[in-house]
Amino acid sequence: MKTVRFGIIGMGNMGRFHADYLLAGKVKRAELVAVSDAVPANLERYQQLKTFERSEDLIRSGAVDAVIIATPHYLHTSIGIDALNRGLHVLVEKPISVHKADCERLIAAHQSHSQVFGAMFQLRTDPRYRKLHQLIYGEELGEIVRVNWIITDWYRTEAYYGSGGWRATWKGEGGGVLLNQCPHNLDLLIWLCGRPARVRGFCQLGRYHGIEVEDNVTAYLEYPNGATGVFITSTGEAPGSNRLEICGEMGKVVLENNKLTFTRNEISMIQFSRTSKAGFAKPEVWNIDIPFENIGAQHADIAQNFVDAVLDGAPLLCPAAEGVHSVELANAILYSSLVGKTVELPLDGLAYEQRLKKLVADSKFEKKVVATAGEDFTKSFNR
Ligand SMILES: NC(=O)c1ccc[n+]([C@@H]2O[C@H](COP(=O)([O-])OP(=O)(O)OC[C@H]3O[C@@H](n4cnc5c(N)ncnc54)[C@H](O)[C@@H]3O)[C@@H](O)[C@H]2O)c1
Repeated sequence: MKTVRFGIIGMGNMGRFHADYLLAGKVKRAELVAVSDAVPANLERYQQLKTFERSEDLIRSGAVDAVIIATPHYLHTSIGIDALNRGLHVLVEKPISVHKADCERLIAAHQSHSQVFGAMFQLRTDPRYRKLHQLIYGEELGEIVRVNWIITDWYRTEAYYGSGGWRATWKGEGGGVLLNQCPHNLDLLIWLCGRPARVRGFCQLGRYHGIEVEDNVTAYLEYPNGATGVFITSTGEAPGSNRLEICGEMGKVVLENNKLTFTRNEISMIQFSRTSKAGFAKPEVWNIDIPFENIGAQHADIAQNFVDAVLDGAPLLCPAAEGVHSVELANAILYSSLVGKTVELPLDGLAYEQRLKKLVADSKFEKKVVATAGEDFTKSFNR
C-alpha cells in the first residue's frame, strides 16, 4: 500500500500534537518519518525518527513526500516556499502567513497541480459549521442580511503570552488575537458568508495584557449585497462568549452553547413586508433545533483529507490558497484601526506590509519569556 511520508517542521505545542496523532496511526496511509526544530532539545523525544535542526535539511533529505509546517507564523512563508520549490506536498498551519503580501508570495510558489498544498483550518470539519454551510449554500436561509460573531472566549493569561519569545510581538508574530486565535473564526466567517467589501476595525493594543499587539477587537463589516456584520473578539474577557448569529431573509440561525437553532420564517421577511396589509404583523416562524454529529478528531481529519488528496486526488477541504482571505481580513481590521478609517477590500497588501514593518521598526517592547508549567495544550482548541 502506498503511504505519504511526513516530516514536521516546528516541534513546539502544535508540532508535537501533529506528531502524536500521526505516530498513533490515527491517519491512514500516513507515516511520520522526520521532524525538525531549531532547538535541539525539542528533537530529543523523536530519536526513532530522522531529526534535523534546519528545515532546509529535512526538506532536502529525500526522506519525506510532505511536510507539516508548525513554526511561528512568519516562517510559514519562507519554509513553505522552500518546500514547494523542492516539489514536496505542504500542509501549513494557520495563519498561512502573517500578511497578505506574504500569503501571495507563498501561494505563487505552488506551481504544480500534482503538488497538494493544504492549510490546517480544522474547524471546517466541525459538524456544526458544516451544517451551517449546508443551510446557507442549500439556500435554506435565503440571502444573508446580517452576521454577528461574538467570540470572546479565547481567554489567555499573562503566563501564556510570556511562554514564547515570538508571541504577541510585531516582530515575532505580526499581530495578536486576530492572527493567532481568530484565523479559524475569520476563515469560517468567510467560508460561510463570503468576503466583506469594506471593514472598520477598532483594535485595542495590550488592553488586558502586557503586550504590544491587539487583544481586544470590534470590527464592523459590510458585504457587497449590503449585508452587515459585527465581529468581536478578545483574549482578556472571562467567561467570554461564543455566539454566532446569522440572519437571512428566511430567518435566523444561532450557534451558541453547542446548540444550533434555526428560527425559520414561513415566508421571506422581505416578501412579507412588501405584501402584508398589517403594520405590526410578522412572518410566522418554525423553531428548529438542528441536529449534528459528534465532533471528530479535527486535526487528524484534515491530515487524512490531505493524504487522500495526495494519494487519490480527493478534493481538499482547506486548500491553502483560500488561507489568504482570513489573513487579508485580519490585516484589514488592524489596518483600519491603525489609520482610523474604513478600509476597502481587496486590501492593498504592500501598503499593509509597509505599515507592519514600521510597527516592527518602531517597537520598543521588551519581551520577558517565562516558562509555563507543563499543561494540556489541547485545552487551547476552541470548540
Ligand atoms: N490549528 C491549530 O489548532 C493550532 C493551534 C495552535 C497553534 N497553531 C499554529 O501552529 C504554529 C506554531 O504554534 P505553537 O503554539 O506550536 O508554537 P510553539 O512556540 O510552541 O512552537 C513553535 C516551534 O517552532 C520551532 N522553530 C522556530 N523556528 C524554527 C525553524 N526555523 N525551523 C524549525 N523549527 C523552528 C520552535 O523552536 C518551536 O519549537 C503557529 O503558526 C500557530 O498559529 C495552530
